[in-house]
Amino acid sequence: MKAKDKLIVALDFDTREKAVDAIQRLEADVEIFKVGLELYLASRGKIVEYLQEKGKKVFLDLKFMDIPNTVAGAAREAAKMGVFMFNVHVPGGKQMMASAREAVEQVAAGGLQKPLLIGVTVLTSLDQNDLLQLGITQDVKELVIARARLAKEAGLDGVVASPKEAAEIKSACGDEFVSVCPGVRPTWSAAGDQKRIMTPKDAINQGASYLVVGRPITGAENPAEAAKLVLEEMEEGFEC
Ligand code: C5P
Repeated sequence: MKAKDKLIVALDFDTREKAVDAIQRLEADVEIFKVGLELYLASRGKIVEYLQEKGKKVFLDLKFMDIPNTVAGAAREAAKMGVFMFNVHVPGGKQMMASAREAVEQVAAGGLQKPLLIGVTVLTSLDQNDLLQLGITQDVKELVIARARLAKEAGLDGVVASPKEAAEIKSACGDEFVSVCPGVRPTWSAAGDQKRIMTPKDAINQGASYLVVGRPITGAENPAEAAKLVLEEMEEGFEC
């Protein structure tokens, strides 16, 4: 797999226009874009179609969590949209995740491309104290691995994870289990609010399946140049 097939650029914008501008600057170098809640709502969902008309793959980052029947319905619609990847919250439970899996399989059986179904284990904004407030006493890292295992049992294709957890998730859930890793920072970019960061080279080296990179690319003076540099660093990771 080439670096280009593993790089996902996060489009964290509050208007369709800003996102379109970024996409136009990046389309020669980037194949996969992540659309989250903000841009999805700001564009009334239309940004997905815009990207697909350009032949780009979409990671629909809407993190579904509800009762199984409702999540199955949302998963069916996401799959019908032809997105490349979408996600659900693992704490929604095994039955909820299995319902999403079943919905994806039903849509794929009708001939449509099957999206990757990814789980969110523990939000990285939560620390041990936040978990305690929620009545969870387990160590965060153990919790991430336990939830990754549950996601695998429920039939998910992988999880969102820090690149620092990628190797451990692979050994717990197998080489085929996908890890989608944000928190990636090339040495030349600012960490911003990301705390547990890793360079693109090291993240690939640790076994990350996909890297999600936002501001180091979209906030750069020359986004295309920044994307090329990230891709070069990722290639170095394959060589290690
Ligand atoms: O700009 P930056 O590279 O920090 O963007 C990372 C993207 O990945 C953002 O869209 C952020 O919401 C998302 N993300 C994250 N950490 C997680 C899950 C998602 O940074 N645990």
